[in-house]
Amino acid sequence: MLSLADRYTRAQRSLCDVDQDHLLDHYDKLEDDQRNDLLEQIESVDWPAVGRMVKTHVRSKPVVKLPSNIEPAPWYPNIPTEALQDKYCQAEQLGRQLVSDEKVAVFTVAGGQGTRLGWNGPKGGFPATPIRQTPLFGCLAEFIGKVQEKYSCRMLWYIMTSTMNHEDTRAVFERHEYFGLKPDQIQFFAQEMVPAFKISSGKVLMSGPDSLALSPNGHGGSLKALYTSGTLADMQNQGVEQISYTQVDNPLVRVIDPLFIGLHCLDGAQMSSKMVTKANPQERVGVFCLVDGKVTVIEYSDLPVELAEQRLENGELRFGAGSIAIHMIRSDYVESLSRGTESGQFGLPFHRAEKKVSEYDPHAQVLIEPQAPNAVKLEMFVFDALPMCKTSIVYQTDRLEEFAPIKNCNGPGVEDCLSTSQVLQVERACRWLEAKGVTVPRDGNGHVNAVLEIRASTAVEQSDLDELVLPGNIDPGSSVLV
Ligand code: UTP
Repeated sequence: MLSLADRYTRAQRSLCDVDQDHLLDHYDKLEDDQRNDLLEQIESVDWPAVGRMVKTHVRSKPVVKLPSNIEPAPWYPNIPTEALQDKYCQAEQLGRQLVSDEKVAVFTVAGGQGTRLGWNGPKGGFPATPIRQTPLFGCLAEFIGKVQEKYSCRMLWYIMTSTMNHEDTRAVFERHEYFGLKPDQIQFFAQEMVPAFKISSGKVLMSGPDSLALSPNGHGGSLKALYTSGTLADMQNQGVEQISYTQVDNPLVRVIDPLFIGLHCLDGAQMSSKMVTKANPQERVGVFCLVDGKVTVIEYSDLPVELAEQRLENGELRFGAGSIAIHMIRSDYVESLSRGTESGQFGLPFHRAEKKVSEYDPHAQVLIEPQAPNAVKLEMFVFDALPMCKTSIVYQTDRLEEFAPIKNCNGPGVEDCLSTSQVLQVERACRWLEAKGVTVPRDGNGHVNAVLEIRASTAVEQSDLDELVLPGNIDPGSSVLV
């Protein structure tokens, strides 16, 4: 093991090379344990990459040139046309087979900071369901448990954290006894962190005398982290060929969807995506497009208004395929991205955002809370791996069936928060119960007048309710847990 002095010399060399040695200016004033903490953080950063990023993304802004040849991406409809019916049957069968053969693993990205939600703890520990208040991780775990029961299989679950929430995330699982799953089927690994840079100087900011202002490198960092953490090798050793990628903040997400898995595999795709039809041209979701024949997500803020508003003859939005961050990814595709990427970021671009970041002033020994954006933060987005695929398919899912995200803190008129999510969760439960002949009370506006919750451990799809004895009617204002 290297001594502190040797580590200091090594750190100073790496920092000098990229003109960031100010980070060690006050090293002499620190206690040994603080020195260790600071060096540990410095050692966790890829400094040659930082040097390149400062040039291309901090001192200058990368020019985002919108391609001129944008077309809507083709997609498989939620309900198959007659011509597609056989293919859907075959796909569903294939997907089920791959799940029972344990060729598919679940992958949840949960390394984000969850700033908008403002919850004190990992987002996955946030109570999400309307009756039991099951945490988001619990919703995913119950889904996995039900899949194991339906397909008589063991399902591996990989969870990406960041160094900021890794221990807290493990603690959530321990506290909830792994939500009924076996600890050895769940693996946690942390993604890489990137420093925040002062806009005016390009210097890395500090957040304390012994700490850098670091943040996770975006959900796109998951592909690199899968590889560098050894998780991908672990998956492959266990026979996993397909990775079912979802985010942590959607309690209705279909963690495993045999039809989607099957369509992705039948077409030989490397990475595929689910979409929902955009509710309106302004909805803030990325849109699946074709650029030079490649499936590409264009962010809502980058899509020109005249394209966002274009409609087909039948009135549908021409660019209406909204991204909801659900993907199937071949494990060997992740491996292939690791080859020939000198940039060390798996070929994914960094996106630049100017944000307010608390900044420690080592001279005055105070933490300054900025009033205006003072820092550049850099993030990679996972959908930037799509255009590098030879083949990539898009499948339309039914919004109410699996999209009830919790991103924001509750508030009047706020979208994508706990209350909007719970309305959708109840609405979906109602849809499933009504389809089974249960009479559910509604008010004059058609809203469900009861609190309904269907555990994922009871049903992950409507047909799972077939065997159950359900009530004929639900009393107005009552709470019913199935
Ligand atoms: P969001 O873009 O909603 O970000 O992440 P967030 O960090 O959860 O919340 P805000 O923006 O700070 O309010 C979408 C998904 O991607 C994961 C999140 O954990 C969430 O599941 N994510 C995001 C990562 O795993 N790592 C990141 O660096 C960023």
